[in-house]
Amino acid sequence: MAEDFVIEMLHITKVFPGIKANDDITLQLRRGEIHALLGENGAGKSTLMSVLFGLYQPEQGVIKKNGEEVRVRDPNDANRLGIGMVHQHFKLVECFSVLDNIILGVEDTHYGFLQKAEARKKVVALSEKYGLRVDPDALVSDISVGMQQRVEILKMLYRDNDILIFDEPTAVLTPQEIEELMEIMRGFKKEGKSILFITHKLNEIMAVADRCTVLRKGRYMGTVDIADTTKEELSRLMVGHDVRFAVEKKPQVPGEAVLDVQHLVVPSRVHKKDAVRDVSFSVRRGEIVCVAGIEGNGQSELIFGLTGLEKPASGSVSLLGKDVTNARIRDRSKLGMSHIPEDRHKHGLVLDFSLEDNLVLQRYWQPEFQNRGFIKRGEVRTYAERLIDQYDVRSGQGPVTVARSMSGGNQQKAIIAREVDKDPNLLIAVQPTRGLDVGAIEYIHKQIVAERDQGKAVLLVSLELDEVMNLSDRILVMYEGEIVGEFDPKKTTVEELGLYMAGAKKQGEAKA
Ligand SMILES: Nc1ncnc2c1ncn2[C@@H]1O[C@H](COP(=O)(O)OP(=O)(O)OP(=O)(O)O)[C@@H](O)[C@H]1O
Ligand SMILES: [Mg+2]
Repeated sequence: MAEDFVIEMLHITKVFPGIKANDDITLQLRRGEIHALLGENGAGKSTLMSVLFGLYQPEQGVIKKNGEEVRVRDPNDANRLGIGMVHQHFKLVECFSVLDNIILGVEDTHYGFLQKAEARKKVVALSEKYGLRVDPDALVSDISVGMQQRVEILKMLYRDNDILIFDEPTAVLTPQEIEELMEIMRGFKKEGKSILFITHKLNEIMAVADRCTVLRKGRYMGTVDIADTTKEELSRLMVGHDVRFAVEKKPQVPGEAVLDVQHLVVPSRVHKKDAVRDVSFSVRRGEIVCVAGIEGNGQSELIFGLTGLEKPASGSVSLLGKDVTNARIRDRSKLGMSHIPEDRHKHGLVLDFSLEDNLVLQRYWQPEFQNRGFIKRGEVRTYAERLIDQYDVRSGQGPVTVARSMSGGNQQKAIIAREVDKDPNLLIAVQPTRGLDVGAIEYIHKQIVAERDQGKAVLLVSLELDEVMNLSDRILVMYEGEIVGEFDPKKTTVEELGLYMAGAKKQGEAKA
């Protein structure tokens, strides 16, 4: 008997200017399986899923559902076929409530009146059934990314979809939320729903997937059964060579303080309570200090306060002895502060600018790139080409590619290239490897350690304890807006950090 495939994508080819994003790719999804899709940044994963969801029309290839050829002209077609998608960068309407976002486009009306009470009942029932905690009346702009994602999942369930596409859902989640999401996916599978799951984290694939299809540079490399494979084999299939998971780091003696923070208080944008409460610490030359904590404990606001994105309520920030508490962002940058922001779309890139213009955002006014108000396009081009080459930033058209069209991981690599190449005194990196493939993570970790070895001060914020333990020279744990402990990674364990992160323990007078 033929295999029971609910969806088949056969010989799919999708071309963008300058690049074959999908080159003769075949993917067969069994009914009731969790099927992982793995590949380097820019390998064509999101493109392939967008073809299935009707956002792109392929140049070649066919899609079959239950063995019959179907046309997916747009997401409404996809919906009718039971296909739903949670996008890599969410597509919610920020000024709408959770409930309005969920029903948007499929509103039930009765004599022209919106049947909101019915809709609310269904949403509440679904959220209880699957443990997807949301507040139906909250505005999307006020809720955490974790909750935004639950809204996206509820959107699919509300439409009774049974083929669910998750494009890098775990990249924005905390370890606890990742566990919850994997449990939810297992629940969907038990009910016979079929899942396509994109992730760069091999542990997650090993933990939940039944099979995994691997892409490399737009091409199909094969499909493997998870039961008969290893992480090493998957990464080899993906990048074509072995990947090292641990970082090598020489001991280093820190020098003078570069960043000094005293009694900093930063207000919260959503709550009445301050997000950062009386935080003091410093970061010296030649050390990587990592702020660890569960998402939402003031780490984001701490960085907003340090980088000038939010005005502190009190306290001081100084950079190489200069008070920059209220300095303009450009002045901080001139004093040698670099910032790899948490939200790459909001604070990292101008999405409608070209890649090359994004790479000179913080220095186009320098004489190197500008003469009497005119940009030296040739210099910008040469500079961009060097960074693109050095950091392996992949895109369809090189320097002139519009940033918006680049794959998520390559957008991230572009920001890192710009911020590290500025030759900063202080590098502030928030979740720098979020959404990067294992090969790119290895490269970026090496770059961060190289910065430290050259005597730069590095302040890293990461939710991933592996990254924290691997990279940092000193760890500060934040809990409810305060630093509750300081640790030497060589003398602590993930378990001990976990206790402090959860608020179960606190050091006497935790000062750094
Ligand atoms: N709308 C578009 N216009 C032009 N080029 C595009 C467009 N969408 C994707 N591309 C290009 O197609 C290639 C594949 O991109 P895609 O987003 O599918 O990668 P991905 O595997 O999802 O990567 P990542 O892991 O970084 O998210 C990239 O080189 C990208 O620049
Ligand atoms: Mg993608």
